[in-house]
Amino acid sequence: NGAVRVALLGCGTVGTEVVRLITDQAADLTARVGTPVELVGVAVRRPHRHPWLTENFPHLVTTDAGALVARDDVDVVVEVIGGIEPVRGWLLEALKAGKSVVTANKALLAEDGPALAEAADASGADLYYEAAVAGAIPLLRPLRESLAGDRITRVAGIVNGTSNFILSAMASDGTSYADALEEATRLGYAEADPSADVDGYDAASKAAILATLAFHTRITASDVHREGMRGVSSADVAAARRLGCTIKLLAICERVTDERPDGTAAASVSARVYPAMVPDAHPLARVDGAFNAVFVEAEAAGQLMFYGQGAGGAPTASAVLGDLVAVARNRVGGGRGPRESAYASLPVRPIGDV
Ligand code: HSE
Repeated sequence: NGAVRVALLGCGTVGTEVVRLITDQAADLTARVGTPVELVGVAVRRPHRHPWLTENFPHLVTTDAGALVARDDVDVVVEVIGGIEPVRGWLLEALKAGKSVVTANKALLAEDGPALAEAADASGADLYYEAAVAGAIPLLRPLRESLAGDRITRVAGIVNGTSNFILSAMASDGTSYADALEEATRLGYAEADPSADVDGYDAASKAAILATLAFHTRITASDVHREGMRGVSSADVAAARRLGCTIKLLAICERVTDERPDGTAAASVSARVYPAMVPDAHPLARVDGAFNAVFVEAEAAGQLMFYGQGAGGAPTASAVLGDLVAVARNRVGGGRGPRESAYASLPVRPIGDV
């Protein structure tokens, strides 16, 4: 029937909202894409854990993600499971078969993004992943497209909603770290294993993705210097307050240019995640709850600021749906998203050199 047919992998906090948006907004999506966007399957490991899905969409549910991805009638694979294996194989298979992929999988992109980009470029499929960094905030599209003609020098800010929620709660009313983490989990902000949030792994993956896009180079999560916020105590938060500061977990990515003695210049990249004392007058000090905020500096554009909900089902699903519309439009119109397999390789600076 000319519809764009979508397979969804995963139906947790984000996936549930994706199903809701695709079905509730079917008429709008059809109008915006020019043809219906039809969900043809949802793969979940344990269907009994998804009563809403199995009651409302029993005909869509499958436990065999591999078979769903391989179906001939699937045009687009949307992945919101997370983690590297077994997702990597499914997404590579989809891309090799020319199916477009929309993913929120920051860990996979930060570890093996180039392999996905190469598979996409080889087959002419699209690879979009706005939801992987900073939830609802349109941030990757500006880096990949709007600023593609500029030279970005710095991307810095708060990119983990859970740790920011915890630090904000500790600072505002003295909530304990443990209570705040429990609440962040209940609200659907935290990762399945919240140590990814509080130990900085999630932010490091996002920093790697941001640095890769901003500087057109290949940065993996292991290139990012990482310190989490698990060790920040209520006493630290209170001491920072007395000094007119707020503790925030920051991700900072910089393109550094060194003049060589012979007059030529050498560029390198620094990427780091750590809890920092932010002066209260700085806008980042006032980013509370699960909100994220990211400053981007580019040579011609100057400074830009991106702010919004960085975690949670509906905000993250908004970014997934935006990508879904983009890839569906490309399939209908014959267009393609940005190519990223040809990135150069800038050296990564050790933290001590910055
Ligand atoms: N656990 C992540 C966060 C979800 O708290 O930011 C959004 O990527």
